[in-house]
Amino acid sequence: MFDSTHAHITTWAIALILFVVVLVLQKGGNHKGAKITQMILRVFYLLIIATGVLLFSKHQSYNPALYGVKFLGGVIVIVMMEMLLVRTGKGKNTGILWAVFVIALAITFFLGLKLPLGWNMLS
Ligand code: HEM
Repeated sequence: MFDSTHAHITTWAIALILFVVVLVLQKGGNHKGAKITQMILRVFYLLIIATGVLLFSKHQSYNPALYGVKFLGGVIVIVMMEMLLVRTGKGKNTGILWAVFVIALAITFFLGLKLPLGWNMLS
């Protein structure tokens, strides 16, 4: 858990899939299905944060600034997923939220690849 990124990767990969599933269910008018899937997704938010914090707490001293930005980026991605689903469910405008989501996801992913554990393709 502290040295391997597998658990962390599993949690955010499942969360991104569930996020798309909720959007598809919302668009298809299946509000009950969307609500239930969103509840499961919220459990995965906690698992992403838990696995991320475990990795962070052990390794951030290697490069506190980059690890800090990774942490913040990951939290912003999660907040954007939640806000996008709530606002899409209410039929509200989501343009800016999508922009922030895509940028935060790109930064978080890039830093995940750059930091030393697991996939380490960019350093
Ligand atoms: C949906 C949100 C997130 C995505 C898409 C994401 C993505 C990634 C990726 C691609 C990696 C690299 C995995 C590897 O190298 O094997 C990674 C590692 C990591 N993530 Fe996340 N992450 C997210 C949320 C978080 C959060 C919320 C935190 C902190 C609480 C966090 C902390 C970390 C840490 C500390 C690492 C290890 C970096 C390293 O040393 O290589 N992540 N993440």
